Amino acid sequence: MKKAGVAILGLGVVGGGTYQILTEKREYFKKTQGVDLTVECVLEKNVERAKQLGVEESRIASSIEEVVANPNVDIVVEVIGGTGVAKTFVTKALMSGKTVVTSNKELFAKHWPELEEEAKKMNAGLFFEASCVGGVPIIRTLQEGMQANKILSIKGIINGTTNYILTKMAYEGWSYEEALKEAQRLGYAEFNPTADVEGFDATYKLSILSSLAFNKKICIENVYREGITGINKEDIAYGKEMGYTLKLLGIGKDTENGVEVRVHPTFVRNDDPLAAVNDSFNAVHLVGDAVGEIMLYGRGAGALPTGSAIVSDVIFAAKHDRYFYASFENNQKGNKETKFVDDFTSKYYLRLSVADKPGVLSKISGVFAKNNVSLKEVKQVAGEEGKAQIIITTHCCHESLVKKTLAKLDALDEVFEVQGTIRIED
Ligand code: HSE
Repeated sequence: MKKAGVAILGLGVVGGGTYQILTEKREYFKKTQGVDLTVECVLEKNVERAKQLGVEESRIASSIEEVVANPNVDIVVEVIGGTGVAKTFVTKALMSGKTVVTSNKELFAKHWPELEEEAKKMNAGLFFEASCVGGVPIIRTLQEGMQANKILSIKGIINGTTNYILTKMAYEGWSYEEALKEAQRLGYAEFNPTADVEGFDATYKLSILSSLAFNKKICIENVYREGITGINKEDIAYGKEMGYTLKLLGIGKDTENGVEVRVHPTFVRNDDPLAAVNDSFNAVHLVGDAVGEIMLYGRGAGALPTGSAIVSDVIFAAKHDRYFYASFENNQKGNKETKFVDDFTSKYYLRLSVADKPGVLSKISGVFAKNNVSLKEVKQVAGEEGKAQIIITTHCCHESLVKKTLAKLDALDEVFEVQGTIRIED
């Protein structure tokens, strides 16, 4: 039977879940996978936490040097997060010829090429299933299940915190601030929620996933990013009435005009399967030229779901002697030949606060017509004295034309404010 010794760097929520799965299911993995996995050591500053989880004191290492010098350790699991010590530790492990399994999307999105270089030099494995969409096996699906396809698009709810917030705003009528506070209380959002709510977390994940999907390095800088902090519940409610549900989507498309990668709040049709993905759940929808559409759904975070992805990598590493490296040119700055679509096309939802007097609607629609933006639906809602709200959806058009239109509308005396601009994907 194949044997592998594992070291876990960091025993926080995910490290704890990983430790639990590896230790409690040792016999199960021997029987079902033919591998004997042992946790040889852990690196955790909080010794009490390690002991509480059941780690013997003799297996608590005091430095990364001790971990990498341990001849019984074959696989190092990094679940510390961030790009500081995590990067130093992962690099040291790879340089010592240890295979690394990481859940660290930021580290991976920012430093994948250099980490892979180190891994290749030592013929070590570098696995990252848990870096994207937690327990959902999206990376192995892309690498091992979709090889027969050219992947045309990837579209997903890849951040659970923002999905929780948007769900509560839509179904409970909470404000953004109320929903964020509850997300923090439940431990989904951090004290400083910026990485989630401003879309950075989703951007890291989309850069990794679209690189694999489209077989070209997509850098973080290539991904257009907008978070959910500017969203208000009125737009969610108006959208719902018009047949749409709001999600923070990561969208990647490989088109004949180039690659399009973006993270932003998006209205999807109420009958789109992504509209039914609620609370902190994640989902990824893929279109392959042979298989057509597939969708994966599950928990994108948490001790056991993320532990599940990590242990799946550990088992894969233990069972294989040859490892997967990127099949594309994996440069820090991407490949110069990759073309990107800057001025993408989309449908739009717009909400304007306008003067409620004769001729305003025709003036506004004239601006759209002049800028070649075709209107799909227009709705007027009476507002406070002398004011009205105009809610508009457009047909598909270039983003640049919508921006030009909005700038012209903003300059009109009759338009007080552009209150909502949300892209529609259907
Ligand atoms: N903070 C992430 C989320 C979980 O809310 O989805 C790990 O990526």
